[in-house]
Amino acid sequence: MEGPALNIHSRVYVSGHDGLVGSALLRTLGRAGLRNVLTRTRARLDLTRQDAVERFFSRSRPEYVFHAAALVGGIQANQQRPGDFIYQNLAMQTNVIEACRRHRVKRMIFFGSSCAYPKQAKVPIREDQILAGPIEPTNEPYAVAKIAGIRLCQAYNQQYGTDFVTVIPANLYGPQDHFDDSGHVTAGLIRKFHAARLAGAAAVTLWGTGRPKRDFLFVDDLAQACLLLMRRRLRHDIFNVGSGQETSIAELAALVSQVVGYKGRIDFDASRPDGIPRRSLDNRRIAALGWRPKTELTDGLRLTYYWFRRTLA
Ligand SMILES: NC(=O)c1ccc[n+]([C@@H]2O[C@H](COP(=O)([O-])OP(=O)(O)OC[C@H]3O[C@@H](n4cnc5c(N)ncnc54)[C@H](OP(=O)(O)O)[C@@H]3O)[C@@H](O)[C@H]2O)c1
Repeated sequence: MEGPALNIHSRVYVSGHDGLVGSALLRTLGRAGLRNVLTRTRARLDLTRQDAVERFFSRSRPEYVFHAAALVGGIQANQQRPGDFIYQNLAMQTNVIEACRRHRVKRMIFFGSSCAYPKQAKVPIREDQILAGPIEPTNEPYAVAKIAGIRLCQAYNQQYGTDFVTVIPANLYGPQDHFDDSGHVTAGLIRKFHAARLAGAAAVTLWGTGRPKRDFLFVDDLAQACLLLMRRRLRHDIFNVGSGQETSIAELAALVSQVVGYKGRIDFDASRPDGIPRRSLDNRRIAALGWRPKTELTDGLRLTYYWFRRTLA
């Protein structure tokens, strides 16, 4: 696909701009000097409403779209609200993707998720593994909607010649994460160790053995990759974006406790479930475009903890 000519005057719409990914995109687009970045809060534009989305696109005519709005949550949320996870994500993405097609958006970036990959996919997971096997059942509602979004983008590219690109991020962390009930491991650890430090607790107990490994990416590095993908000539329509490194939960917990200044013990409750042992992404496609993550895990954790303390603690 030919790289569209994104420039500082381009009209760029970022959906979900106050979320983890959307806010990082705003910072990155601002640093890159883009002057016409369009945003709408959910109160002003509910993306599950097709008529409202259509009206917004007719009036605002975005040329480039980052669709970072979604209903996001962990295992518990998916199990409590499976209908909302399927319906709201399907509705939002279908409305936005269809509006991008109808209004001839030059390029749209849709965000998939690594839980859309099969449970047994070989790690590091390649982009061609979508629908290559059964998915992990605990996040199925969210994953089913993501798979539909990925295939809708590809189907429109094939049928209508649109330029819709899916980005599949690794486990993200950073400012503006949900530190309450997101199910995001990094945010959860920061909250837990911070509370334990304040309480002078002697020990913190974490679920599982601590052995599962994940790929943690600072969200501003993802945003940088997305800007690159919006600008460059692309030969694929799905890109994994991960750190390229595997970190065990125990290693992450040790780092977070250092950053937070918690001095007590860290115990693991091995009677609790561990989840999938490994889940890292094959980064070769995005690396071939010259992208590398810039933020070391410890530095990213420091920046995240700084934001947490300033904003929420
Ligand atoms: N975080 C990760 O580790 C991760 C990993 C892989 C993929 N992703 C994907 O990346 C994308 C962004 O995730 P995130 O972590 O940034 O999520 P997030 O922090 O929860 O942000 C989601 C955003 O979507 C907005 N939104 C939700 N429902 C809406 C609606 N009906 N109308 C308008 N806006 C609505 C939210 O607005 P409110 O503030 O009003 O709720 C919020 O701004 C998602 O597609 C997600 O699946 C994230």
